[in-house]
Amino acid sequence: MIEWNEEVKTGIEMIDREHQKLFNMINALEQALDNGSTAPLAQIINGLMEYTLTHFEHEEALCRTSGWPGLEAHQKLHRQLRDQVSALKENAVDPQSLHTFLLQWLVEHIQKADMEYVHWVEGRR
Ligand SMILES: [Fe+2]
Repeated sequence: MIEWNEEVKTGIEMIDREHQKLFNMINALEQALDNGSTAPLAQIINGLMEYTLTHFEHEEALCRTSGWPGLEAHQKLHRQLRDQVSALKENAVDPQSLHTFLLQWLVEHIQKADMEYVHWVEGRR
């Protein structure tokens, strides 16, 4: 389990709230894996991906409103994640690997990519 923590805190309330929810959903997936249950896995994964894409939209809207010049490149990262997950699912990757991939991606994406727009948005408050 990984708890949302200071290291991934952006200071933007909406974004932090949504990131927290993503962490919670990733933890729920881990819990389902630990329980050895297979039935709700697809449902959990689909829900997680659906929420991830909604979150991306919110993030992109915020970046657009603030006139962040890195938006296009950032959108590309979001699209890449979506495509990577689709490919993994098509190849019927095991849910444990998908969990590990998503968790790593999210932490790294927040710390490296998201923090770039965070600084920009904060500078314009
Ligand atoms: Fe992002």
